[in-house]
Amino acid sequence: MKLKIAVLPGDGIGPEVISEAVKVLKAIALAFEHTFTFQYGLVGAAAIDATKSALPEATINLCKKADAVLFGAIGDTAYDIDPNAKIRPEQGLLGIRKALGLHTNIRPVIAYDDLLNKSSLKVKQIKDTNILIYRELTGGIYFGERKLSKDGNTASDLCEYHRFEIERIAHAAFKAAQSRKRKLMLVDKANVLETSRLWRRVVQELAKQYPNVKLDYMFIDNAAVELIMNPRQFDVILTENMFGDILSEEASVIVGSIGLLASASRGDKHAMFEPIHGAFSKAKNKGIANPIASILSAAMLLDHFDLADEAALVREAVDKSLKLHITTPDLNTKYDNISTSKVGDFIEDFINNPEETNLNFTNIHLGQSTII
Ligand code: IPM
Ligand code: MG
Repeated sequence: MKLKIAVLPGDGIGPEVISEAVKVLKAIALAFEHTFTFQYGLVGAAAIDATKSALPEATINLCKKADAVLFGAIGDTAYDIDPNAKIRPEQGLLGIRKALGLHTNIRPVIAYDDLLNKSSLKVKQIKDTNILIYRELTGGIYFGERKLSKDGNTASDLCEYHRFEIERIAHAAFKAAQSRKRKLMLVDKANVLETSRLWRRVVQELAKQYPNVKLDYMFIDNAAVELIMNPRQFDVILTENMFGDILSEEASVIVGSIGLLASASRGDKHAMFEPIHGAFSKAKNKGIANPIASILSAAMLLDHFDLADEAALVREAVDKSLKLHITTPDLNTKYDNISTSKVGDFIEDFINNPEETNLNFTNIHLGQSTII
């Protein structure tokens, strides 16, 4: 298969983790005889520095012409502390989501057996957690009208949803539930917000088309507790933009590191794949950023094009790296010198030689090769 992939590394640790994801995709292309081409674009603080815009036209055009977009991370602490900044790196990410119409964001939350003890939660609480969060990505308070009064003392952000915005992601979430445990949890704040009541009404109507899916409801404040206390009760979670942002980041506690959580953002015409973590500016260029979220986002890219064997091999390689403690310091208590690129090298190497999975393999790769 030929794929044109637009790569937007962005800020902070973005470039480091993205180069590992690209490394892995190149290995897959070689192993399965695909032709993947990569074209790079500027976004975020990196784009502001070069062009004064967080999302240059050239980047939007590059992404529109590509078959898929691979995105790194965005944000810069210099802007975070300045509430008066008019141009912000995040506008780049929000802008590209809107420009490509990426309304459906899918964030898997899987507790890996090999990492259960990395979570600050109890093993028996989190074991076997496997959740898909469907986060609406181009509506709600993120994109409503913003106002600041002239005197600077009053501000507002409008949270608005239209029926069609709810319907398209709800259909996708119901379908996902049908291929899993057939449970869909709508998370909202319908006891307070009109938008949440619209979500409930629309989702309830659609539920009639999916009689084999059990639809349930939970208020966001309660869901925040239940997700930690009893994550196994969830199968597919469907929620609006802001609640999804918060819940998915919270879910990283279950998995053991936010550096593991991948996502796919789908629209009608375009798709983008990005780790859910931010730019983590403090870690920039230190080689400590976990590339697995990016690499698993690349696996979701492969899924998107029905390259199931390819995606499975990437996941197998990731599993192997976790099992053998070939991980960055956020997860590693066994070795203290495994860098971002060494994790990528290991996964690339596994893709090249998947059959060598015996003990000798561990020794070779830990002892003599590029790993340590
Ligand atoms: C995410 C991030 C973004 C969001 C930020 C960087 C704008 O937190 O993808 O979860 O809030 O959507
Ligand atoms: Mg977030």
